[in-house]
Amino acid sequence: MKGRAQVIIGAQWGDEGKGRVVDFLGKNVDIFARYQGGANAGHTVIVEGSKYVFHLLPSGMLYPCKVCIIGNGVVIDPEQLIYELRMLQDQGKDRARLVVSGAAHVVMPYHKLLDQAHENFRGRGKKIGTTGRGIGPCYVDKYNRMGIRMEDLLDPDLLREKLSSNLDLKNLQLTRIFNIEPMAFDEVYKKALEWGKILEPYIADASLILNEALNSGKNVLFEGAQGTLLDVDHGTYPFVTSSNPVSAGACIGMGVAPTIIDSVTGVVKAYSTRVGSGPFPTEDEGEIGEYLREKGGEYGATTGRPRRCGWLDLVALSYAVRLNGMDNIALTKLDVLTGLEEIKVCTGYMLNDEVLGSFPTNVNLLEKVTPLFKTMKGWTEDLGACRKFEDLPEAARNYIEFIEEATRVSIGLIGVGPQREETIIREI
Ligand code: GDP
Ligand code: IMO
Ligand code: MG
Repeated sequence: MKGRAQVIIGAQWGDEGKGRVVDFLGKNVDIFARYQGGANAGHTVIVEGSKYVFHLLPSGMLYPCKVCIIGNGVVIDPEQLIYELRMLQDQGKDRARLVVSGAAHVVMPYHKLLDQAHENFRGRGKKIGTTGRGIGPCYVDKYNRMGIRMEDLLDPDLLREKLSSNLDLKNLQLTRIFNIEPMAFDEVYKKALEWGKILEPYIADASLILNEALNSGKNVLFEGAQGTLLDVDHGTYPFVTSSNPVSAGACIGMGVAPTIIDSVTGVVKAYSTRVGSGPFPTEDEGEIGEYLREKGGEYGATTGRPRRCGWLDLVALSYAVRLNGMDNIALTKLDVLTGLEEIKVCTGYMLNDEVLGSFPTNVNLLEKVTPLFKTMKGWTEDLGACRKFEDLPEAARNYIEFIEEATRVSIGLIGVGPQREETIIREI
């Protein structure tokens, strides 16, 4: 009998707590699979008081005897991957088996330079605020059919040929357009060969391994990176990342058919945050935003940048429910709202004296909307010890039920603290 295929995605602008939810659900999972993005992600997992931040490795790496797969849809910075692997090895925590798709593209050093250079070129007010990890330029090469794939690192002659023609072009761009020093072929080639040697044992046909495992009854959890509103097709373009974090991305990015997916869980933070530029209708640049940032520790897990904060946006969330086919919601960081007298939640947008029926995908419109808020009663009780829905204060239960009614999706998991055990599980 086929195993269960469960997709976990971010429903907002990333950093919803996906790593933590993946880790929590990991007990009943055999295989963890990352399907898009790259080291722009920062997924935090806290186990027995120790904190781990994964950028490339799937968040299941701490479970003994499980398989973690990095799919073809991920763009891999080998240096970062090797660093994360060594970090776990040094701590004796590399307990899972890692598989890396040979078809995943390699983030090369020139991609990182070009990422920065493009950002600078965009100028004030136009910057995306990327993580500088070379993500956009690497995906550009992939779609321009000139990228270097993980399997290419294992073939010195092919690598030489591909890298030399790539570097010729990149050096022209770096020097003539961006006025940056060129990169020396020998240095980059040597580095790439070394990466290949170190990573060879992990490189395999990930799609085949995953499909065979599913068919033999293994349970798979697909771990999305970033979030729905950062999706290159469906997010707040151009203020997005360069991949498809939505649930459908799991199929393309792992090489599985849509028909194998059994469920989709959207990870939703109890309020909203965003790193980098772009429209954010419910952003609070005053006291509330500051309160959420400090209480929620809202500083980027990858770049350390302060995250922009604001109230939960049900218009955007309903859009994410639709795009992802969400079966249930994992609501994180409810505890961060404790102590607020009132909690606001956005239930609609006004644009030119009209209430909008749905989330506008055009950023020029989204930038002009005024959010309509419903104000709800807050609570003061500490939630850290709550383990059942009934343990929560009435005001917190009302907040949860209101979200469920508005989205018509049930909340199956509630985070009441960052630790593994600080979780209320209903049904997921
Ligand atoms: P991800 O990118 O979606 O995996 O999320 P990040 O790891 O970037 O950011 C989520 C942050 O919130 C991390 O610091 C987590 O430890 C923390 N976190 C996750 N769930 C909860 C929760 O329920 N309560 C609190 N207080 N913190 C949480
Ligand atoms: P996780 O997986 C939050 C944002 C960047 C920037 C935009 C484009 O931890 O949720 P990129 O470097 O991808 O070209 O940057 O996307 N961004 C994220 N924001 N969480 C992330 O990942 C992000 N990954 C990229 O801040 O606005
Ligand atoms: Mg993150």
